[in-house]
Amino acid sequence: MSLALDAAAQDLLFREARTANTFSDEPVTDEQIQAIYDLVKYGPTAFNQTPLRITLVRSPEARERLVKHMAEGNRPKTATAPLVAILSADNEFHEELPALLPHFPQAKDMFFAERPVREQSAILNGALQAAYFIVGVRAAGLAAGPMTGLDFAGLQKEFLDADHTPLMVVNIGKPGEDAWFPRSPRLAYDEVVTTV
Ligand SMILES: Cc1cc2nc3c(=O)[nH]c(=O)nc-3n(C[C@H](O)[C@H](O)[C@H](O)COP(=O)(O)O)c2cc1C
Repeated sequence: MSLALDAAAQDLLFREARTANTFSDEPVTDEQIQAIYDLVKYGPTAFNQTPLRITLVRSPEARERLVKHMAEGNRPKTATAPLVAILSADNEFHEELPALLPHFPQAKDMFFAERPVREQSAILNGALQAAYFIVGVRAAGLAAGPMTGLDFAGLQKEFLDADHTPLMVVNIGKPGEDAWFPRSPRLAYDEVVTTV
């Protein structure tokens, strides 16, 4: 009763949404990914920065190059998911800030002139955007399988450049057979929330 979102949408996004470990053969289209991005791009970030970059790994050759950087246990699902996305953070996101924050274009030089500050901000806000993306995948009726069990330095060298920090790899598709591990418990409200 306290939530504005209807119960079916709550289930789709959270209660019944699971992290998939196997996938059906049904393809995931560029149109689906565009619809997901066009929804989740509205998720908030600091200074409205947009550091998230999404690399769709579509060709069999690129998939093979990706799989070899994944941890052993992540390889079969990364090899067989209908679509795999590499999510990274652009450390030079500040170049776009004047356009993205037109009422405060000075933010670019006031706050983000130094690279270490930008990197920290890109990782925090890129990770937020990655989380919005995962929920967006669920909103499209698909399952996501995010993974950080991988060789980050190898992945960066293979697919990105020095200005892009890899955040995670996400398998995307309709779930296949035996797609989930048993649901693990979550911390309860009282264990997480304090009021001061
Ligand atoms: C950032 C991130 C990294 C993860 N890395 C891996 C991974 O490398 N391998 C794996 O099998 N699962 C990985 N997972 C999946 C989590 O274990 C899973 O989402 C979590 O246990 C919740 O599962 P549920 O959605 O089925 O309840 C990762 C999840 C996230 C969000």
